[in-house]
Amino acid sequence: MLDEIQKASAEFESALAAATTSRALDELRLRYFGRKEGLVPALFSRLKEVPKEQKKDVGDALNRFRDHAEAILKERSASLANAEAAQKEARETIDVTLPGRLPRLGHLHPITIVRRQMESIFSEMGYSIDPGPEVETDWYNFEALNFTPDHPARDTQDTFFLSEKLLLRTHTSNVQIRTMESFRPPIKVMSCGRVFRRDEITMRRSPMFHQAEGLLVDRGIHIGHLRGTLEHFLHRLFTPDTKIRMRPSFFPFTEPSAEIDISCVFCGGKGCGTCSHTGWMEILGCGMVHPQVLRNVGIDPEEWSGFAFGMGIDRVAMLKFDLPNIRTLFENDLRVLSQF
Ligand code: PHE
Repeated sequence: MLDEIQKASAEFESALAAATTSRALDELRLRYFGRKEGLVPALFSRLKEVPKEQKKDVGDALNRFRDHAEAILKERSASLANAEAAQKEARETIDVTLPGRLPRLGHLHPITIVRRQMESIFSEMGYSIDPGPEVETDWYNFEALNFTPDHPARDTQDTFFLSEKLLLRTHTSNVQIRTMESFRPPIKVMSCGRVFRRDEITMRRSPMFHQAEGLLVDRGIHIGHLRGTLEHFLHRLFTPDTKIRMRPSFFPFTEPSAEIDISCVFCGGKGCGTCSHTGWMEILGCGMVHPQVLRNVGIDPEEWSGFAFGMGIDRVAMLKFDLPNIRTLFENDLRVLSQF
């Protein structure tokens, strides 16, 4: 019996060394101390078979083994539980310094930003907004705007024809005619939209681009109204200290015609590479509505007069967001677009 106890004790020690988890330790405890099949209770129950003179020694040995095994099991399970708790904590700890995963948000396209800004400035001045059609007839895009069939100015607006009758508008000035045909003066309309010209793609040109157009027709309108309106507009669109100058120009549908330059948005007028050291940047075309255009839509030029203007939205977006290449606006690269 003493041998058996010694053997059990040795086995216990090696099983203990192998039990590295709480679960293994529980199994070990069950094997040695389980009420029904535990080895230790089994040994105790055999104590009565031991001859009287050995009973004390065997009993002492058995007690020592039991006390030792119980104590060491208790100690070991406490330290294992601690270690496991620490592990679990380490595993489940939330690192609050990790950057979160942000959902991707939509962005307005730079052209949309500028278009909305332009539209809201004119809305505030009482203009209605009408984008007009992109597919047009010769009448609205050219003829009614005083481009006679062989007018050389047609060449400057190299046109995409869809059929003999239909074309892609080369400018938003078609909205002038459409509005004046549908409404009697006083008229205040503003139009933003896509226009098309058979141009090569370069840093600053694209066969499709965007224009903003404005038209005002009322009694007694003169060039001072044009200048004041555009000055207000350009001060809002850029900065209040933006300087403006008008240069005589030519469009078939305005008389007189002018081009408006603003002081360079990069150097403020001192002269830099972007403005070719002139201090000025060409920004829009404008003029007083040609009497013939008014007549073309049945408005009496003796009673009514008006002004019109048109400008590139893409160019303004390039200036405002400092984009050197117009293609940036049309490539739809999210890495670029998400910056606006
Ligand atoms: N339609 C002209 C262009 O595309 C701009 C313009 C509009 C000029 C209205 C005068 C008046 O160049």
